[in-house]
Amino acid sequence: MRKISKTLLLIVSAIVILAIIYRAVNKAPSEELPANEQLLAILNDGGCAECHSANPKMPFYAKIPGAKGLIEKHAKNGYAAFDVIPLVSALKENAAPNEVDLAKTERCIADGSMPLAQYSLMHWGSSITNEKEKIAMDAIRELRAEFYPNPLAAPEFANEAIRPVPDSVEYDPAKAALGDILYHDTRLSADGTVSCATCHGLNTAGVDNKRYSEGIDGQLGGVNAPTVFNSCFNFVQFWDGRAATLAEQAGGPPLNPVEMGCTSFDEIVERLSRDKAFVKAFTKAYPEGLNQNTITDAIAEFEKTLVTPDCAFDRYLKGDKNAMTANQIEGYDLFKEYNCATCHAGVNMGGLSYELMGQRANYFEDRELTLKSGLTDGDNGRWAQTKIERDRYRFKTPSLRNIALTYPYYHDGSVESLDEAIRMMSKYQVGREMPDEDVAKVEDFMNALTGKYKGKELANDNM
Ligand code: HEC
Ligand code: HEC
Ligand code: HEC
Repeated sequence: MRKISKTLLLIVSAIVILAIIYRAVNKAPSEELPANEQLLAILNDGGCAECHSANPKMPFYAKIPGAKGLIEKHAKNGYAAFDVIPLVSALKENAAPNEVDLAKTERCIADGSMPLAQYSLMHWGSSITNEKEKIAMDAIRELRAEFYPNPLAAPEFANEAIRPVPDSVEYDPAKAALGDILYHDTRLSADGTVSCATCHGLNTAGVDNKRYSEGIDGQLGGVNAPTVFNSCFNFVQFWDGRAATLAEQAGGPPLNPVEMGCTSFDEIVERLSRDKAFVKAFTKAYPEGLNQNTITDAIAEFEKTLVTPDCAFDRYLKGDKNAMTANQIEGYDLFKEYNCATCHAGVNMGGLSYELMGQRANYFEDRELTLKSGLTDGDNGRWAQTKIERDRYRFKTPSLRNIALTYPYYHDGSVESLDEAIRMMSKYQVGREMPDEDVAKVEDFMNALTGKYKGKELANDNM
């Protein structure tokens, strides 16, 4: 009897001591610190960089047989899913963190999935306690308010990861008017048959609804055409991000042999120069006259007018409770619950980061089973620009604005229907099977993402 109570006493005191140590090593950052330093401390304590960076440092127990393989696997999968270093650097410099990084961090701390349980078991100080979670959530809220002010949203939605599309962005009207003409001008193509609008018709939601676009002489491109609407909100242009700005982007198609097929901008300048009225108007806005820089600048200026505010969802975010149906509101809640509002965050619900297609299941292997088309150059994604292996199959996340009108979906245009695109996202990016009733609600929510252009609901004449 005495022996049992002695053992019991030992066990209890051991638990108490362990609990004291646990609390001591797991101290939350001080409330006094500014938001960036609080979040930074939680990420550092959480060991996030040990699994989410290019050069993770191996913990001491990596030498234990069997442990090394598991740790390496975590670091490999972790780094494929998320690179924490840009966020850490931004927090250190108190600079603007990427909205997607904030949204992802917010999600995985809120749902308790990070740091991985196996890691916290070995690193007590890394656990996100309730106190730390609250501090992290408050810090993220503060950082959003500071770097991504959201004056359009109603107070209860000011901290959402998605922000409403503004009514307009600043642009130069005279230059945009010239850009409008050039955008619709087939003189930008070698044989005078193709304009930007051929593949990005404004009456067809800024896309051509073809799997691959058709350029001069009926030649086909290798990836699906994204919409030009709201493209000014993307952090870079093209699936692989090879153009940093809209003007740089606009320099591409005219010289692309399968799109507009010109040999140089001189050829275009020469054709346009024969049009005396146009030259006169153009030099009024651009005294330096026609050249690649001014032509692409005018087109970029015009593209800034292609924003689509005031969709039902945005009206809901702005405080109009009746803007979305009950089903659509449920769809939005599911959209967040399935972690969709991480990569698809910000004003454009996307366009802010490169993401691996097939995060949780092998998309390309499965596509081969059905399409048997083999891998294409377009499938390489960001890798084509960086040649860094991690960037293979990584794409700039597309915008979901006006998504009901911009089929077919994905960089390869392989998916015709929106419900299928949603179902597949859940499988390949989130790692969850989405039941049909959830898919239907999320699709219904996506129907609330069609905005207005020039005051009228965007339409697609192909539908
Ligand atoms: C021991 C390694 C490890 C640590 C430590 C760790 N993670 Fe992870 N993390 C992973 C792995 C592995 C995945 C990928 C999970 C998967 O694919 O199933 C992941 C996924 C993620 C994702 C992507 C989630 C998604 O749905 O795609 C985010 C964001 C993330 N971690 C953030 C963090 C943060 C923030 C911390 C620190 C608080 C952290 N992680 C700590 C291993 C780790
Ligand atoms: C032959 C069809 C075709 C023509 C003509 C064309 N585009 Fe595109 N556009 C595409 C395709 C396909 C892509 C995707 C290419 C890629 O990502 O590699 C694209 C991408 C874009 C993007 C990037 C959008 C994003 O989200 O990344 C913009 C902006 C754009 N085009 C504007 C223009 C402008 C401006 C012109 C005229 C100067 C033009 N396009 C001419 C087919 C076309
Ligand atoms: C890890 C980042 C990530 C998450 C999480 C994510 N997506 Fe995506 N989404 C992408 C990327 C990247 C693409 C483009 C893939 C491609 O073209 O191969 C995409 C494409 C799409 C498209 C097609 C867009 C188009 O124009 O082609 C839809 C629709 C979509 N996602 C909806 C969702 C939904 C719904 C969820 C939640 C179930 C979700 N996404 C979760 C990154 C993500």
